[in-house]
Amino acid sequence: MEFEKLVRERYSVRKFTDEPVSDEDVQKILDSIYISPTGQNKQPLRIWTVRSRERLADVKRITKFHYDAPLTIAICAVPGEGFVRKSDGCDHCVIDAAAATMQAWLMTEDIGLGAVWVSDFDSNLQDALFPEMKGTELVALLQIGHISPESKPLGWHSKKRDRSEMFFEL
Ligand SMILES: Cc1cc2nc3c(=O)[nH]c(=O)nc-3n(C[C@H](O)[C@H](O)[C@H](O)COP(=O)(O)O)c2cc1C
Repeated sequence: MEFEKLVRERYSVRKFTDEPVSDEDVQKILDSIYISPTGQNKQPLRIWTVRSRERLADVKRITKFHYDAPLTIAICAVPGEGFVRKSDGCDHCVIDAAAATMQAWLMTEDIGLGAVWVSDFDSNLQDALFPEMKGTELVALLQIGHISPESKPLGWHSKKRDRSEMFFEL
């Protein structure tokens, strides 16, 4: 899809069909994460692809915002592994993971699938059910799938602050 159209038309998809996401599409999305930019190119990321019924059930246990998507990609940051700004100690790993998540989301859209970024989950339950992610910070559970014909953006998708509150010129 043409990039400007893609960016303008993207919205959080919360209704998916049951059709699985093909291996080829999963690989394209993972590649988009792999090549995403990170501070000092440190790549402080760990990514888990969740497709099995059992582990998708675990995703459902830690968040109600799973929308029965057939694929979850969990994007985690590794504190201390990325660029840390000397002047104030700001660890950029979460910023890197956010950039990677957005790149994956746009790739998802570009290949004709839909996604929603979910970060409202129970972190205590996540620690218990996903011990593999120990030592990382889960930044996004990207819920991905084929878009249901009934899918539409939520009302607040188009609710935007007035530009004058957000954009300034120095
Ligand atoms: C950092 C972040 C966390 C989010 N977490 C959730 C979530 O836990 N559950 C959910 O349904 N949507 C979540 N969203 C989706 C936002 O609600 C959505 O992007 C926002 O309302 C704007 O709507 P739009 O994506 O349709 O333009 C999240 C989005 C971002 C960027």
